[in-house]
Amino acid sequence: MYTTPADWKWKTIIEPHRIKTVEPLGFTSRKEREEVLSKAFYNVFNIPADKVLLDFLTDSGTGAMSAEQWSAIMRGDESYAGAKSFYNFEAAVRELTGYDEIIPVHQGRAAERILFSFIGGPGKAIVSNSHFDTTRANVEANGAEAIDLPVKGALEFDKPAPFKGNMNITALKETIKERGPENIPLCVMTITNNSLGGQPVSMENLREVHKICAAHGIPVFLDMARFAENAWFIKQREKEYAGTPVKDIAHEMFKYAEGCMMSSKKDALVNIGGFLALKDQKWAARARQILILGEGFPTYGGLAGRDLEALAVGLREVLDENYLAYRVRSIEYFGEGLRRHGVPIIEPPGGHAVYVDVKRFLPNLPSEKFPAQSLVCELYLEGGMRTVEIGTLMFGRRDDNGDFLPAPMELVRIAVPRRVYTQSHIDLAIEIFGEIAKRRNKIRGLKIVDAPPVLAHFTAKLKPE
Ligand code: F0G
Repeated sequence: MYTTPADWKWKTIIEPHRIKTVEPLGFTSRKEREEVLSKAFYNVFNIPADKVLLDFLTDSGTGAMSAEQWSAIMRGDESYAGAKSFYNFEAAVRELTGYDEIIPVHQGRAAERILFSFIGGPGKAIVSNSHFDTTRANVEANGAEAIDLPVKGALEFDKPAPFKGNMNITALKETIKERGPENIPLCVMTITNNSLGGQPVSMENLREVHKICAAHGIPVFLDMARFAENAWFIKQREKEYAGTPVKDIAHEMFKYAEGCMMSSKKDALVNIGGFLALKDQKWAARARQILILGEGFPTYGGLAGRDLEALAVGLREVLDENYLAYRVRSIEYFGEGLRRHGVPIIEPPGGHAVYVDVKRFLPNLPSEKFPAQSLVCELYLEGGMRTVEIGTLMFGRRDDNGDFLPAPMELVRIAVPRRVYTQSHIDLAIEIFGEIAKRRNKIRGLKIVDAPPVLAHFTAKLKPE
């Protein structure tokens, strides 16, 4: 763990670690990148990672582990059942969440698939501040409806507010009234809210949502992938928590829920893993039955003993306040750099990523020409930087008449892996943006050559218009 003494007085926020193992970056020439991108059909998911200089595709599973975590890997107990590593993992999750039933899975969506295979179904609705795509897909796969109820300000990208990840309380009350509480088997609070800019949820909002749901017998679960970043924002932005240790803030967040789903690839600082943790023994028993069918025995759930050990260490490490101060500051610094070049972003920057508002950056490119994907390609061509589109390629649809329905937003997400890049990498990324900003009017759109009917963004083939 990192520690800073009480008399630490410097303003500069530094990476609170030094580097023991290094990996070379993927340097390429412009000509090489042109060939790579064309061969990848202008879809950056098809680019080999060694052809990427700065990889901001996702913060999921891309973090660097600590020396403590690598040591824990060596202590992994690979017994099939009842491994010591499972009990270490279980203790860490229990200590954090306070829940008794703890079920390991190989990653977040496995927890979602298990939970929504017995909760939901036709006629039911799951309410959330915003479902992440895989959560929505798992809710819908079983016939239930996934309803997002974000606060109004969440979609006003240019207007900063401290807790744009919050649930709209009025809309929640109305939805419960309209649908009937018996038709809403679960409320999911995604902390932070990845789909809408990595924005945090306030403690006040969590408390209020829980109160309303409890009054109607609706359990609340946290989608806690980025819980530590959320807890840090509460400490920074919610006055009454300014003096509360982040660890205590995290404990309190879990009090306003009956369970949680975790993608450990984010705030557990590991490259693979996840879990489901909950209070209800009957739900846990059902979950374990499904777990055995698809993931494995309940004391390993699709993970190796060593994965469980590293996860247990990561869950404790991530609550270190020096780490969180650096983490959130580095994203904010990224956002400041983009602003300086006149690049409009979702304000304020989120906890794990900066989101460029492409509708405002490239106003001349209509949604039909995939402006956000065009910018993603341009960033790769200019500087070998990989980002991800959250726009019409990801969410665009055709209606029953075959007419084109664009996505409501055109965003490029620049997600920053944990503990991987330094400030100079971020400075370079800002410089690359500066170049592109100068000639933004010349950026051309894309058209689709071939796309599957679902989750098109992963495999679609495109070319310049
Ligand atoms: N919930 C949230 C809020 C997420 O951001 C993700 C994954 C998941 C659940 C699913 O977890 O990938 O372990 O199965 N987000 C990644 C991303 C993929 O790039 O934002 P998983």
